[in-house]
Amino acid sequence: MTMHELEKEYFLNTYNRLSIEISHGEGMYLIDKSGNRFLDLLGGVAVNALGYSNERLISAIADQASKYIHVSNYFVQQPQLELAKILCEFTNYSKIFFCNSGTEASEGALKIARKWGQQKNKCEIISMENSFHGRTMGSLSMMSNLDYKEGFGPYLENCKQIPFNDINKLKGSTNESTAAVFFECIQGEGGIFEVSEEFVSTLSELKKRFGFLVMIDEVQSGMGRTGKFFSYEHYGLNPDLITLAKPLGGGLPLGAILIKDNLTDVLKPGMHGTTFGGNPIACAAGKIVFDEIVNNGLMHNAEKVGHYFKEKLKSLVDELPDKIKEVRGKGLMLGLELKFAGKEIVNKMLENQIIINCTHNTVLRFVPPLIMKKEHVDQTINTLREIIIP
Ligand SMILES: Cc1ncc(COP(=O)(O)O)c(C=O)c1O
Repeated sequence: MTMHELEKEYFLNTYNRLSIEISHGEGMYLIDKSGNRFLDLLGGVAVNALGYSNERLISAIADQASKYIHVSNYFVQQPQLELAKILCEFTNYSKIFFCNSGTEASEGALKIARKWGQQKNKCEIISMENSFHGRTMGSLSMMSNLDYKEGFGPYLENCKQIPFNDINKLKGSTNESTAAVFFECIQGEGGIFEVSEEFVSTLSELKKRFGFLVMIDEVQSGMGRTGKFFSYEHYGLNPDLITLAKPLGGGLPLGAILIKDNLTDVLKPGMHGTTFGGNPIACAAGKIVFDEIVNNGLMHNAEKVGHYFKEKLKSLVDELPDKIKEVRGKGLMLGLELKFAGKEIVNKMLENQIIINCTHNTVLRFVPPLIMKKEHVDQTINTLREIIIP
């Protein structure tokens, strides 16, 4: 049986898998079993910030695995402590909670907001339409897209979604009962839409008036991808809480919640926890990921190459206005909105050995490893042009 036949035989039918069968990865490339090299602009869905086969990452993983793989959160663990210190000191957040994934980080954020709000009679969580926060019930309660939600309800009470960037709806929905407003500054799965300046300034005024929490989902946009360590830095926000995951563990499952001083007393021992969260190997990997992104130039590279990429995509929009609507995003988190369904383009790019994906039916999404170079951009643009023109 082929790998795909085995998958059909034994797996729940939850994924549409790509046709290639991977042998291994190298830098920006995935190599299939026949030795074909695929330029990977999906990067494990915004996870593989360092690309494939980073030697420092591999040896940090092997080194920690030889010491201990898991001991449980009954113990303090050196790799967790080191990563926590690095992240808190660099980001100016007070405390961290480690979990395993983006959706767990969303769940934790929701629990913190509710617990905090309970003491103040604030119970409502406002989030955005078209957002993505994960697949568990709390996350789904903060999302509106029926493709993810239909048939799984009922959902949590007091969770309301408003159209992204709609300041009148924001004004009409926030009040003394609002515990938190939670959103992505750049919606990822939703098709790469950025928060507007007007929305941010209205939010800040309302926060001053009603005293709710601002919580930002940096799961996809965080850790340097947009050219700044967190996407909220582009918009002058100062969130009370942020969620992180995807690139944090270098491909191993690792998520985190970072909180400011005002939230440090909300949770007490036993109120929240996890068996695997903050796995020591994932945290050891996380230290290398941070170091490469911040100290070895990958964040700067994301800004520089991302800018070049966006300019090239813009010229493609100018060249092909009948076929392409616009380009959006920052750094190496970019979306190209077509005027037709993008699935066929994704398939043709794959035939040309370039891996991209399509969100929201018409948006080609680029979330490559942050090691991407200009030559990879040129190859992508040239291939895209050839494919889109006919
Ligand atoms: C912005 C955002 N938040 C949360 C999640 C959920 O992360 P996970 O799949 O690790 O649960 C995702 C996943 O795509 C995401 O893009």
